Amino acid sequence: MEKILIPTLILLCSIFTIIQPTSSQTTTPGFKCTTRGATCNSLIDYKLPNTTTLSSVRTLFQIKNLRTLLAANNLPLTTPQNQTYPASTTLKIPFPCSCTNNGTGISNHRPIYTVVPNDGLYHIAAEVFSRLVTFQQIQAVNNISNADEIEVGQKLWVPLPCSCDDVGGEKVVHYGYSVPTGSNVAGIVNQFNTTESVLLELNGLKDAKDLLADSVLDVPLKVCTTSVRNGSMDYPLLVPNGTYTLTANNCVRCQCNAANSWVLQCEPSGISLPNGPTCPSTQCAGTAFDLGNSTSDSNCNLSRCAYAGYNTNGTILTTLTQESTCPAGNNNNGSPSGNGSKGLRSSLALVASLIALHLLR
Ligand SMILES: *[C@@H]1O[C@H](CO)[C@@H](O)[C@H](O)[C@H]1NC(C)=O
Ligand SMILES: *[C@@H]1O[C@H](CO)[C@@H](O)[C@H](O)[C@H]1NC(C)=O
Ligand SMILES: *[C@@H]1O[C@H](CO)[C@@H](O)[C@H](O)[C@H]1NC(C)=O
Ligand SMILES: *[C@@H]1O[C@H](CO)[C@@H](O)[C@H](O)[C@H]1NC(C)=O
Ligand SMILES: *[C@@H]1O[C@H](CO)[C@@H](O)[C@H](O)[C@H]1NC(C)=O
Ligand SMILES: *[C@@H]1O[C@H](CO)[C@@H](O)[C@H](O)[C@H]1NC(C)=O
Ligand SMILES: *[C@@H]1O[C@H](CO)[C@@H](O)[C@H](O)[C@H]1NC(C)=O
Ligand SMILES: *[C@@H]1O[C@H](CO)[C@@H](O)[C@H](O)[C@H]1NC(C)=O
Ligand SMILES: *[C@@H]1O[C@H](CO)[C@@H](O)[C@H](O)[C@H]1NC(C)=O
Ligand SMILES: *[C@@H]1O[C@H](CO)[C@@H](O)[C@H](O)[C@H]1NC(C)=O
Ligand SMILES: *[C@@H]1O[C@H](CO)[C@@H](O)[C@H](O)[C@H]1NC(C)=O
Repeated sequence: MEKILIPTLILLCSIFTIIQPTSSQTTTPGFKCTTRGATCNSLIDYKLPNTTTLSSVRTLFQIKNLRTLLAANNLPLTTPQNQTYPASTTLKIPFPCSCTNNGTGISNHRPIYTVVPNDGLYHIAAEVFSRLVTFQQIQAVNNISNADEIEVGQKLWVPLPCSCDDVGGEKVVHYGYSVPTGSNVAGIVNQFNTTESVLLELNGLKDAKDLLADSVLDVPLKVCTTSVRNGSMDYPLLVPNGTYTLTANNCVRCQCNAANSWVLQCEPSGISLPNGPTCPSTQCAGTAFDLGNSTSDSNCNLSRCAYAGYNTNGTILTTLTQESTCPAGNNNNGSPSGNGSKGLRSSLALVASLIALHLLR
């Protein structure tokens, strides 16, 4: 916990980080998570300890489908599972989060790691899981009284830190961001479009100078707005910037990109699973539009066939929305700079349609 001052930088700016060796080892795992019993999806950075494949990462974190891992990393769906990445590559790991009774969030009984010969708790925490947790945290959630006594074949729950709390009254996806050496709070705030006070508050830091390199920081990722209805099987569909997701039984692919005015862009995924259901039509009823199709008029009114959710029986809901995409002198699809109000989606549902074709099994 030694502070190493960087005098010249301090002179230049008061919000520079002081990079300290990681060691904030508290036993209570997780980020602040006050919504008791809440569950949600979270992301965390995993720095590969060796040169390895997507498949081995998927196995380590028990991610059911390769496409979930691909979507979190914005990798093409065609990426093979034997795709190899060099050591130190950072991948985003998607996982289910749950708030515990004591106000912290940890991965919901996943991943479960099976002890192999010559393993030690420290090795598992620091090397296999690249310091996403401390060995004391693994020890605590697994009720291990003596850290030196683990047995080959023993199953260990690795409690990844996460949260399901709203931030500033808005739903977000909490991201365990691995702080690169040399970064500072101001840079992180700018990169993820959050505020210093939010970042410090979430992470229990008194001062921006308390940021630790290599620590896992709780960064709230803003999500795209959607037309998904309350009641839909995937409500609320929270897709953060720079990721996509597959929903409606993999029939629909939705991408979130800050450059599209933070409006979720959904289209038919084109995926057909070997033994899976046939996807129903995704056309907006009464129009020639399929999901994702849009047209602009001369007033910069953009009509889009948008995704509105799906039902237990597989029915896909669509809605025709209108967005105003008129920036002063620039009527492209709204780059998010310039006027504060421009790019704001004024999405009026004009037609809500039920696609009554259901899944053929
Ligand atoms: C390399 O890392 C992967 C994923 O973390 C792990 O499954 C594998 O056992 C590691 N291989 C070696 C040789 O340590
Ligand atoms: C990956 O798998 C494919 C098919 O399963 C195979 O053709 C290819 O050679 C493999 N690539 C590597 C690098 O192992
Ligand atoms: C908080 O809850 C977790 C999981 O239930 C538990 O492992 C941990 O020991 C608790 N911490 C405290 C301080 O009670
Ligand atoms: C650890 O012990 C507590 C209470 O002693 C119990 O509630 C909890 O289920 C145990 N956890 C595991 C993983 O065995
Ligand atoms: C959105 O994602 C892009 C690319 O992944 C990134 O460059 C940008 O900083 C992100 N913006 C916000 C506000 O998160
Ligand atoms: C950053 O957030 C503010 C407030 O939420 C928003 O108005 C602005 O468009 C965002 N900037 C980017 C680049 O997304
Ligand atoms: C969703 O609908 C349920 C029941 O109709 C309601 O209790 C709940 O508050 C709604 N949630 C939101 C976020 O509107
Ligand atoms: C409508 O969307 C479908 C599916 O994404 C696409 O194949 C097609 O080219 C689009 N048509 C128009 C007119 O944009
Ligand atoms: C464009 O949208 C505005 C408000 O959303 C509406 O008043 C106007 O009539 C629309 N223009 C056209 C040509 O549809
Ligand atoms: C599927 O669900 C929708 C809405 O819940 C309903 O309108 C439709 O009739 C259902 N279709 C079948 C075949 O059950
Ligand atoms: C941009 O903002 C200025 C002042 O706030 C306003 O007068 C102007 O109409 C806005 N332009 C657009 C395209 O919203």
